[in-house]
Amino acid sequence: MGIKSLDDLLSEGVTGRGVLVRSDLNVPLDDGSITDPGRIIASVPTLKALSDAGAKVVVTAHLGRPKGEPDPKFSLAPVAAALGERLGRHVQLAGDVVGSDALARAEGLTDGDILLLENIRFDGRETSKDDAERLSLARALVELVGEDGAFVSDGFGVVHRKQASVYDVATLLPHYAGTLVAAEVKVLEQLTSSTEKPYAVVLGGSKVSDKIAVIENLATKADSLVIGGGMCFTFLAAQGLSVGSSLLEESMVDTCRKLLDTYGDVLHLPVDIVVAEKFAADSPAETVAADKIPDGKMGLDVGPESVKRFTALLSNAKTIFWNGPMGVFEFPAFAAGTKGVAEAIVAATGKGAFSVVGGGDSAAAVRQLGLPEDGFSHISTGGGASLEYLEGKELPGIQILSD
Ligand code: 3PG
Repeated sequence: MGIKSLDDLLSEGVTGRGVLVRSDLNVPLDDGSITDPGRIIASVPTLKALSDAGAKVVVTAHLGRPKGEPDPKFSLAPVAAALGERLGRHVQLAGDVVGSDALARAEGLTDGDILLLENIRFDGRETSKDDAERLSLARALVELVGEDGAFVSDGFGVVHRKQASVYDVATLLPHYAGTLVAAEVKVLEQLTSSTEKPYAVVLGGSKVSDKIAVIENLATKADSLVIGGGMCFTFLAAQGLSVGSSLLEESMVDTCRKLLDTYGDVLHLPVDIVVAEKFAADSPAETVAADKIPDGKMGLDVGPESVKRFTALLSNAKTIFWNGPMGVFEFPAFAAGTKGVAEAIVAATGKGAFSVVGGGDSAAAVRQLGLPEDGFSHISTGGGASLEYLEGKELPGIQILSD
């Protein structure tokens, strides 16, 4: 059976009906300020369509990884304010998740109102491995929209999580994919089913262990797979090079060596590195060859010669997937590698390549480095979710929508 869409729900009629929406509003915060509102912006179309149609909209979302109990540091308060601004209408924030305040506010909703529940991960049942616990939270969520309510799954960034507000609620209510989830899945389907060659993949980020499955999978499909970011040092170490005090996952060195042995002609590592003494924005930067990283220095970005080589690979590509920054782009002295690679992807897209940016960090980099968002074919809101899709895994939050 196919997945029902938001349009299907709207045509069934939602005026006066309670609709529970799972959004991904997990945005980066710095001292309480949102540094990248991408996920909030991406959540607006579904919420606006439902509110415009007169639904009583109850939104549930998480922020960060609190420990299953209320923690003011992870309150959705700044998100509620930003969401209200983007929607151009007031968004109420409940003082709890499914407690008395949420219940009273949900009961008081009038047509078109939007209520955001406090961080769903303040309730330990959300991420519980115990099916019955998750189901009991899902039942409490259903209570907020009533038995004739509906569930719209629009938090693409969390569809790889088997959690109460993502998966279990869909077992209790008629369920629909929101516009964001539908758009993201369509792009990933296109990326995997009609991949035009040459296919170039750029992977960065800090941990090899997070990316190992996707590297193994994509190395068999891509014509070139560029590796940068903190994880490149484990690969350089696997080549027998000294990496100074750079990030290193000792336990993954053997795995990286095997990958290099098997896919050596597909994998591309940086040939120069921007190093510094410490992990700090003002630590003086110096570029060295990748096989000459001095003891006591850490690599914080890929160097200009690497960018040149990666650019050459990307310039011929017809399909590009990019996940993970090349360096610590948040510090201007170590942003050139990420910016250079992003510019190369924009240039290839201008020449007709289909390019997908997957992941919170790379999407944030695009915006923070001032690159044109429309220079890419698609900027995904899902990091882990898009990677798991590309690994070929079934995503519980998508699978349950087709039941
Ligand atoms: C993300 O940031 O990728 C999503 O919001 C999922 O968050 P999680 O990794 O904490 O489940």
